[in-house]
Amino acid sequence: MDLLLKIWRQNRGDKGGVIKNYPIKNVEPDMSFLEMLDILNQGLIEKGEDPVAFDHDCREGICGSCSLVINGAPHGPDKGTTTCQLHMRRFNSGDTIYVEPFRGSAFPIIKDLVVDRTAFDRIQQAGGYVSVNTSGNTVDANSTPISKPDADEAFSAAACIGCGACVAACKNSSAMLFVGAKVSQYNYLPQGKVEGKKRVVNMVNQMDKEGFGNCTNTGACEAHCPKEISLDNIMKLNREYLKSKIT
Ligand code: FES
Repeated sequence: MDLLLKIWRQNRGDKGGVIKNYPIKNVEPDMSFLEMLDILNQGLIEKGEDPVAFDHDCREGICGSCSLVINGAPHGPDKGTTTCQLHMRRFNSGDTIYVEPFRGSAFPIIKDLVVDRTAFDRIQQAGGYVSVNTSGNTVDANSTPISKPDADEAFSAAACIGCGACVAACKNSSAMLFVGAKVSQYNYLPQGKVEGKKRVVNMVNQMDKEGFGNCTNTGACEAHCPKEISLDNIMKLNREYLKSKIT
């Protein structure tokens, strides 16, 4: 396949960037999107040009590092698929493909397609954990019974890989799907309930401090989430936040 890539280029510290054209030839349909970018970069390096910076790690759809907006959609056109799991057979020879970073004021651009998502780390640090006293005898986790429906709900929420596609897809740059998933993940488990009130307040406060917007129920976050995290988690987040204020 021969393609025309239109890629956002921005140097570290620049206030803005530009879309630059990169024609690429002989792309194999079985390549992943990131492998195609690797080949583009190899060619740029051989010509002495600056390669395109983009984030990636596992390339297996589990780490959440790959963060590209492809033709206007976070992680590209396939539902429930991360950029690293997107294959070039999804495109046709002669296509023009726009590649941009995840945008959001709380996700400042570091370079080209790489954005700073440490705001998510700080939200996690504010409450996304269960404190365990490790002195003396610790309780065997398997000795705490958890009902199957609760375990399933916790597991579904825990599928969030924290990539930030929800923020990139949302017109308000809201992080409520991410925060809702993290709060639900712990709240369904008896171990997580102990710090439940403190957790939801601290995580929401940190989310607001980082500059993420509010949810206006457009559902774009769920539609573009590569792990198909349910919008129900936002409802659960609102419920837990309200409960923490009135009980
Ligand atoms: S590189 Fe890890 S999810 Fe894509």
